[in-house]
Amino acid sequence: MPKDVPHVSEISIAKLTDNPYPCFDRIRDRASAVWVDSARLNLVTRFDDIMEIERNHHIFASTNPQSLMNTVMGHSLMRKDDAPHQAERKAIEPSFRPGVVKQHFAPIFSAIADELLDGIAANGQADLFDAFAAPMASHALIELLGLDGVGWQDLARWSQALMDGVGNYGADPDIANRAKDASDAVDRVIDKALPRHLKSKNPTILSSMAHAPTLHGIDQIRANVKVIIGGGLNEPRDAILTSLHGLLSHPDQLAAVRADPSLHSAVFEEAVRWVSPIGMYPRRVTCETTLGDTPLKEGDQLGICVGAANRDPSRFTRPNDFDIHRPRQQHLAFGAGPHFCAGTWVARQMVGEIAVPRLLRRLKGLRLDSQKTVQVRGWVFRGPTSLPVLWDA
Ligand code: HEM
Repeated sequence: MPKDVPHVSEISIAKLTDNPYPCFDRIRDRASAVWVDSARLNLVTRFDDIMEIERNHHIFASTNPQSLMNTVMGHSLMRKDDAPHQAERKAIEPSFRPGVVKQHFAPIFSAIADELLDGIAANGQADLFDAFAAPMASHALIELLGLDGVGWQDLARWSQALMDGVGNYGADPDIANRAKDASDAVDRVIDKALPRHLKSKNPTILSSMAHAPTLHGIDQIRANVKVIIGGGLNEPRDAILTSLHGLLSHPDQLAAVRADPSLHSAVFEEAVRWVSPIGMYPRRVTCETTLGDTPLKEGDQLGICVGAANRDPSRFTRPNDFDIHRPRQQHLAFGAGPHFCAGTWVARQMVGEIAVPRLLRRLKGLRLDSQKTVQVRGWVFRGPTSLPVLWDA
């Protein structure tokens, strides 16, 4: 019989949400997998252990019959493995090809960024969360999906309600009702847009799914659209804000990027390593096994803490520092293995090549507003919730 997984009781959700990194350090020092009471999960924080997990998806599965995600959104590719996963991944793939992103979507993202910047440039001050990053990510996702007549605030609200529903472990009925309302609203906008995409093939995700021979029925389309709404909006938003936060709090690095715009891709990779927008995702153990120094049982639920692995000192020197000049090296912000983020190219273009460079070019003298505080929160999802700035209008 395997021994019990090591156990840590004094890590609260409040501590994790406020600043997870000291908690991650303690867990990483302790063992390969550590049971954390408050999270009700065995958290995995070491880089090499996560690579091992992602290389062995038959032992560490994404399929999970207890998943709240399936209840709230339907059964999407994120909670499937092997052939069923590949069939759905293949169905969305045409919209995410680097060439399609660059030629079709990049000009659309650029127009969105410019319009938002036109709207605020004369103001000289803003909280970039609401004024830029949230509408940028939301408008871009509406275009990627191919939805008609949807406002950016609607999509942002549905995304939040769906994600709150997925995290509703306490079965709060208000959260469950809001998630159900959001899910119904998304179904209605899919129903409205689908006939157009069926009639004429185009690069959007709805069109790719509507014409995919590997998808069978509306339920598969609905579940995967919801998972993309849940996972494709907050992450680019948070990556925009974290990139700007990192640069504005390191003026020497900001000056280096202004002098050499080819550094923008390093800014993006370093931002998502430093504060990974998805800090944790789940896996289920399918058979008795050992991960590093820790024995595990069939059915154990793991929390894969890529936010911790991306600050693993055995992998990254000075891991807590934001440093765009660090040597290029693999990070885990987009996961690894068969579920590696489908939207990586979209995020690199939207955030690293378009939103952040255009904003820095347009808002001269951009600086943090020293009279206000930057707030950064979360551990499952993490990013600035407020980024107050000033510039020379
Ligand atoms: C900086 C931005 C982003 C980050 C950091 C990010 C991160 C991740 C991570 C860590 C996973 C793996 C989850 C797992 O293995 O369980 C993932 C999966 C996924 N992401 Fe992203 N993501 C980003 C942007 C996007 C965007 C913009 C889209 C779509 C518009 C997207 C669509 C997806 C999809 C569909 C999956 C599931 C892939 C699969 O299960 O095969 N992501 N993402």
